[in-house]
Amino acid sequence: MKAAVLNAQPGPLEIEDILIDKPGPDEVLLQVKGAGLCHSDLHFMEGLFRTKLPAVLGHESAGIVEAVGENVRYVKPGDHVICCTSIFCGQCRQCLSGHPYRCTNPAATSRPRGSASRLTKHDGTAVDQFARLGGFGEQMLIHQNGVVKITPDMPLDRAALIGCGITTGMGAVFRTAQVPPGASVCVIGAGGIGLAAIQAARIAGAVQVIVVDVSDEKLEVARQLGGTHVVNASKVDNVVEAVRELSDGGVEYSFEAIGLKATSEQAFNMLGVGGTATVIGMVPSTQKLEIRGIDLLAEKKLQGSMMGSNQFRTDMPNMVSMYLDGRLKLDEMVSATLKLEQINEGYAAMKRGEVTRQVIVFD
Ligand SMILES: NC(=O)c1ccc[n+]([C@@H]2O[C@H](COP(=O)([O-])OP(=O)(O)OC[C@H]3O[C@@H](n4cnc5c(N)ncnc54)[C@H](O)[C@@H]3O)[C@@H](O)[C@H]2O)c1
Ligand SMILES: [Zn+2]
Ligand SMILES: [Zn+2]
Repeated sequence: MKAAVLNAQPGPLEIEDILIDKPGPDEVLLQVKGAGLCHSDLHFMEGLFRTKLPAVLGHESAGIVEAVGENVRYVKPGDHVICCTSIFCGQCRQCLSGHPYRCTNPAATSRPRGSASRLTKHDGTAVDQFARLGGFGEQMLIHQNGVVKITPDMPLDRAALIGCGITTGMGAVFRTAQVPPGASVCVIGAGGIGLAAIQAARIAGAVQVIVVDVSDEKLEVARQLGGTHVVNASKVDNVVEAVRELSDGGVEYSFEAIGLKATSEQAFNMLGVGGTATVIGMVPSTQKLEIRGIDLLAEKKLQGSMMGSNQFRTDMPNMVSMYLDGRLKLDEMVSATLKLEQINEGYAAMKRGEVTRQVIVFD
């Protein structure tokens, strides 16, 4: 099958023909129909975070089940599914206490050490699957606890976006921060993740949704999707002051959806008393954040969010329903549909900040 492989860090993706194994007892083989371009893959292509190489990147995918292993009862061939990196074992303390996205036993849902790799090159080299998914290929072979079944009414190129960006952004608002109706919210970064957070804030009933970005085009999309006020960070002297002014002294909830030290600190500094800042962006692993200790006395909180603290087997079908009933806007978020061969151009456009979400479609 054809797949986009990362062979070096930093490095581009290379389209290669590779081999995919048959499903093991708990595995499902999928025909991929849609794969979204998330900034996380770009961080790895740029070498900001390490990963095993060579690897098929991609982790925001939807497709149709082609074959299943002998223990699989949850799905059957022909079922439509969305994949999620939050593959749960269902047995560890985190899984059993309602936090399956924090599963601490990835070995239970991976092939045993020393067994055949799910993916290999023609010369026998094992190929890793990024996030144990590897979505930038025509097929995926993954553990059954990494998929959720959805209605066939849902277009799969749109369903793919729910696989990471939508679940992460909406989950940060609904689950991690639990934004209540009437809240004041600021979202910094209006890319795929930020736009999902903005929509979740609107759906949750936030009265004020301030959006900060450096691109007027992104801010315009943000306004259409639920932003009530916009701030172009490249056109104001001080982002924090601009947001504090708009929110009468600071917002109750802020979300950072970029992955930078400066904007993570802005998210904390723009809070009003008792506010909560949630950093969704992947801040480079060696980067430290600085906040003023005295602000903690005002009960301001700084927290992270992993994949929107999801419970994806129930959350994702809910998001599908919200798309089908018109509350969740996905079509408006897609700025381009690409072929797999155009993937590096797609990431170059993301790096230049020109696009909201792009999705690869497979015939
Ligand atoms: N926590 C998680 O589980 C999780 C999951 C998925 C993605 N992420 C991370 O979320 C982040 C966002 O991902 P994405 O796919 O939405 O990226 P993206 O590139 O689509 O969006 C980033 C946005 O930030 C804007 N921006 C850049 N610099 C800015 C600045 N200084 N001030 C204001 N705006 C600025 C850009 O114009 C762009 O609109 C990435 O770091 C990604 O790795 C985290
Ligand atoms: Zn992602
Ligand atoms: Zn677990």
